[in-house]
Amino acid sequence: MRLDKLVAELTGMTRSQARDVIVKGRVCVNGEVNKTTAEQVKEDSDVLTLDGKRLTFQKFVYYMLHKPAGTVSATQDKDAKTVLSLLTEEDRKRRNLFPVGRLDKDTEGLLFLTDDGMLSHKLISPKKHADKLYFAKLAREITEEDIKLFASGMKVDEELTAMPAELRRLSETEFSGFLPSGGFAAAVTLQEGKFHQVKRMFAATGNEVLYLKRMAMGGVRLDESLAPGAYRSLTEEELRTLQDSVRSEG
Ligand code: URA
Repeated sequence: MRLDKLVAELTGMTRSQARDVIVKGRVCVNGEVNKTTAEQVKEDSDVLTLDGKRLTFQKFVYYMLHKPAGTVSATQDKDAKTVLSLLTEEDRKRRNLFPVGRLDKDTEGLLFLTDDGMLSHKLISPKKHADKLYFAKLAREITEEDIKLFASGMKVDEELTAMPAELRRLSETEFSGFLPSGGFAAAVTLQEGKFHQVKRMFAATGNEVLYLKRMAMGGVRLDESLAPGAYRSLTEEELRTLQDSVRSEG
């Protein structure tokens, strides 16, 4: 098998991330640095290391995707483009990947893709308290009253009484580069993820979400260098942060 393919399969990295670590001289085959991405290696007998650490088969794969507007958070859809269609064919076929929770079709931002059902379940369970941070562009400025309502756990509509959430105003400096410029912006931190939750919460205060972007989940922030539609595997540190965010009781 090619060296870049084996590194990708063992680590869960994308093929281009695997090539990058190889050409940087971070990969050794049987103790020797090997920078030849197309080198033929034997997956059953050659010993590979990355930064000195032995590579063994990873049970699960974890990607961070910058979801663009216009894609649906599903593995298949008969009309719309799915988030999985943004992966290369090789990455898509490697495992049975699925998105961790859903973002609306018009929402952008951080979406994890994995084949780890247990971690995914915990991250979307409100009982586990994993924070989800959203930046929203709004029709009108938020008030002190709105902030108190969000914090108190408001009745949103007949079906939903939201858990307490943190709402704060965002200055143009804070949101520049993340939201379209001008207008009124706010940051919301929630621990649940009911259908259209952020939009429904603002609607309940007589406001309207004009644009929504998820910036962080479980303590892991969207990588600013990822353009909409781009993705990469999580670093070991990011994965640990995610796992720690749901390790609490409940
Ligand atoms: N809340 C919403 O209203 N939409 C999303 O996509 C995510 C949270």
